[in-house]
Amino acid sequence: MCNGQIISMENPFSYSDYVTGEAFCNRIAEQKDLIYYAQNSQNVLLYSHRRMGKTSLLRQVVYNLKKARPRVQAVYIDLYGTLDENDFIDAILTGLTQIESKLERILKQMAGLKITGSIDPITNLPTLSASIQPREKPEYLEKVLNLLSSYATKHKLMVVFDEFQEVAKYSEKAFEKRLRKVIQGHRNISYIFSGSQKHILMEMFDSAKRAFYKMARSYPLEKIEICHYVDWAQKLFKKKNVTIAEGLITDIVERCDYQPVYIQQFLFDLWRSTTVSIDVLDEIQKSIMTRQKNQFIVLWDLLTLNQKKALRLLVETGGMSIYAAEQLQRVGFNSGSVLQRALVSLVKKEILSKNDTFQFQDAMLKKWVWSLS
Ligand SMILES: Nc1ncnc2c1ncn2[C@@H]1O[C@H](COP(=O)(O)OP(=O)(O)OP(=O)(O)O)[C@@H](O)[C@H]1O
Ligand SMILES: [Mg+2]
Repeated sequence: MCNGQIISMENPFSYSDYVTGEAFCNRIAEQKDLIYYAQNSQNVLLYSHRRMGKTSLLRQVVYNLKKARPRVQAVYIDLYGTLDENDFIDAILTGLTQIESKLERILKQMAGLKITGSIDPITNLPTLSASIQPREKPEYLEKVLNLLSSYATKHKLMVVFDEFQEVAKYSEKAFEKRLRKVIQGHRNISYIFSGSQKHILMEMFDSAKRAFYKMARSYPLEKIEICHYVDWAQKLFKKKNVTIAEGLITDIVERCDYQPVYIQQFLFDLWRSTTVSIDVLDEIQKSIMTRQKNQFIVLWDLLTLNQKKALRLLVETGGMSIYAAEQLQRVGFNSGSVLQRALVSLVKKEILSKNDTFQFQDAMLKKWVWSLS
C-alpha cells in the first residue's frame, strides 16, 4: 500500500501474441539446436500444431543470435497473409530492413526496379513494396533473394520464413521451383521454413514431385515438459511472494493438454486471483470456455453432420476402438469408411491431428464438444 493505493505488479503472463523475455518458458534445447543449425548453414523445417510456440521460439533465437559466437545475422520474414509472389517479394524487402539500416542501399541494389518505402502505421517500422509487372516477377524474385544472400558474405545468415505454408497457395507458375533454384545456390545461409499446416508442409518437403523435396531437416516442435512449466511459473509467482504448488501447475498443464497459449491464460488469471485453489482453476477454466465459445460455435456450424458425429465419437471414446461396430452405430455411421473420410477432413482442417490415434488440436474445443454430448 502507498498513500492508500494498491500498487499492482504487472502481470508477467501473456497470450495474445508471440511471447518474449520472462513470459517465455524454457525451450533451451530447441534454441541451442536452431542456433547450431544457423551457425552451420543447415536448412530446417520447423512445424507444430497452431499456437504451440513456433514464432515465440524463432523470435527468441533471432534475439539470441545477436549475442552468439560465431556471429550469425538473422532476418525474420512473416509470410502470414501473403497471397502471391508480389507479397512474398515485399515481405523479403521489408525483412531486409532488420539488417540494413540504410534503405538507400537496398534501393540501390535493386536498381532498375520500382520500390517504394513507407512506415507501417501499426508497428512504426519501415516497409518496402515493389511494383511489379507480371512478366517481371521471376527477375524480381531472383534479385531480391540474391540481395539477401549478399548479406551472407562476411557473416553467416539465418533467414526465417514463418508461415511458409502460404507459399503453397500462390498461383504463380513454378514459384516453388524458381525459389528453390535460387536458394539452393546460396552458401552461408540457413533457411528456417516454419509453419503449422502440417499436411501442406509435409506434402511440400516430403513429396519427391515437389521442388522443396528434402530441402530441409525436419524439426517438429514438441510440447514443453511439465517440470519446465513448474520452474518457470513458480519463479514468476515468487515475485509477488506467492508459492504455487507443483501439483497445481501440473493440473493446469494437463487441463490444457500442454498447449502453452491456454497455460498462459490460466496463469494470467491466476495471477489476478487473491486465492489459489482447485476451485479457482475451475472458475478460470469456465471463463476461458466462455470467451472461446463464440469461436467454437462458428467453427462447429461450418462442419458437416458427419464431421460433428466424428468429433462426438472421439470425445466419448477417448479415440479408442472408434471403428468398432457398436461405436459406429451409437453415433449413426453406416460404415467405417464414412467415419474415416470425416476424420481425414478434420485433420485437413487442423481440428484434429493424427499420430497413433486421432486427437483434438485444441484442448478447450475438446472440452466444449464434450459439454454438448
Ligand atoms: N516458450 C513459451 N513459453 C510460454 N508461453 C509460450 C511459449 N511459446 C508459446 N507460448 C504461448 O503460446 C502462444 C502462441 O505462441 P506463438 O504465437 O509463438 O505460437 P505459434 O506456434 O507461432 O502459433 P501460430 O501457429 O498461430 O503461428 C503465445 O501467445 C504464448 O501465450
Ligand atoms: Mg506463429
